[in-house]
Amino acid sequence: MHLRKKIVMLVVSLLFIFVVVHIHQSIVTDDDPYSIYKQKYYLDGLSHWYNYSGESDLNGPTVSMDNPKLITKIRKKFLLSPSLHIEPYNLSFPLLYDTSMGQSEMILSILGDQKEGFFVECGALDGETRSNTLHFERHLNWSGLLVEADPLNFAKMENKKRKAYLSPSCMSTKPYPIMVSFKQDFNVGKISDYPPGYKEFGYVDVQCFPLYSYLLALNRTTVDYFSLDVEGSELDVLRTVPFEKLDIRTMSVEFVHVKEGKNVLRKFVERKGYVLHSEVIRENNLANDFIFVKSSVDAEINSRLL
Ligand SMILES: *[C@@H]1O[C@H](CO)[C@@H](O)[C@H](O)[C@H]1NC(C)=O
Ligand SMILES: *[C@@H]1O[C@H](CO)[C@@H](O)[C@H](O)[C@H]1NC(C)=O
Ligand SMILES: *[C@@H]1O[C@H](CO)[C@@H](O)[C@H](O)[C@H]1NC(C)=O
Ligand SMILES: *[C@@H]1O[C@H](CO)[C@@H](O)[C@H](O)[C@H]1NC(C)=O
Repeated sequence: MHLRKKIVMLVVSLLFIFVVVHIHQSIVTDDDPYSIYKQKYYLDGLSHWYNYSGESDLNGPTVSMDNPKLITKIRKKFLLSPSLHIEPYNLSFPLLYDTSMGQSEMILSILGDQKEGFFVECGALDGETRSNTLHFERHLNWSGLLVEADPLNFAKMENKKRKAYLSPSCMSTKPYPIMVSFKQDFNVGKISDYPPGYKEFGYVDVQCFPLYSYLLALNRTTVDYFSLDVEGSELDVLRTVPFEKLDIRTMSVEFVHVKEGKNVLRKFVERKGYVLHSEVIRENNLANDFIFVKSSVDAEINSRLL
C-alpha cells in the first residue's frame, strides 16, 4: 500500500514536470525573437546565396576592382536576372504609386520623367518597402541593380518579381572585395564591427564588392540614378567609386548616419564633380537624403531651361 502510494506520487510529479516544461517551451517559442530566422524560405535562401564554402577566396587589397576572375564570380553567383516583364509583380501594396519617401519624385524632377533609364539601389531592403526605385521600374520602364546584404530582406525581395538584377551581397567599403559580418535588422541592418565568422543569431557573413565591379559584371558604365542608403557606410562606399570611369548622373545619399558628418560627405561628392540639388527630409528618419546631380547634367538642364 505504502509503495503504491509512492509510485502514484512519483507518476503525478513526473506528469506535473512534463506539463510545466511543455508550457514553458511553447511560451519560449512563441516569444522567440529569432523565429523569423527559422523560416524555411529564409534558410533556403541563406544556404543557397550565402554559402561561400565552395569558392576561391577572392578578397582583400590584392584583388583589383576589375579583376576578370572577380567579374566572372559576380556574374555567376551574385547576380539574379530580372523577372520577365510579362511576370506580374507580387507586391504587398500594389496600389501605392510611389513607395519612396520623396527621393523618386525629386530625381524625376531633375531627369524630366526619363524613360528606360538604369538605376543602382544599394540598401534595397525587400525591394518594395520605401523603395526608391520601384516607381521608375513600374511606371517608366527602367531597369537596374538592387543590392541587399541581409538574407532575410533578400529572400523577401526575390518574391516581389522586380524587373531588375538582384544581388545578395553588400557594397564594399574598400576599393576591393571584402567579407564582412553583417548585423541583420530589417531597415537598419548594417556591417557590424565583428570580424567575419561571428556566430550569433542575427549576424551573417556577407560578401561585398565595389560598385565598379558590379557595373563591369553588368557591362555598364552609365547609371542614371544611384540610390545609396547603407546606415552609415555611405561615404566609405563613395570613396571606392572611380567617378572618372563612370557616368553616374544623379544620386540620393542618406547622410544622417555618416560618422564624418554630412558636410564632409557633401564636400567629398562636390569635389567629384557634383552639385547638391536638394535635401529630401521626412520625419522619424524616414528620409534624410542629399540629392546630387552631376555638374555636366546640371549644366545641360539649365541650358534647356534658358
Ligand atoms: C554549403 O555548401 C556546401 C557545398 O558547397 C555544402 O556541403 C554545405 O552543406 C553547405 N552549407 C550550408 C550551411 O548549407
Ligand atoms: C521596356 O523596356 C524593355 C527593355 O528594357 C523593352 O524591351 C520593352 O519593350 C519596354 N516596354 C515598354 C512598355 O516600353
Ligand atoms: C508572393 O509573395 C509572398 C510573400 O509575400 C509569397 O508567399 C508568395 O509565394 C509569392 N508569390 C509568388 C507567385 O511568388
Ligand atoms: C556582359 O558581357 C559578357 C561578355 O560579353 C556576357 O557574357 C554577359 O552575359 C553580359 N552581361 C550582361 C548582364 O549583359
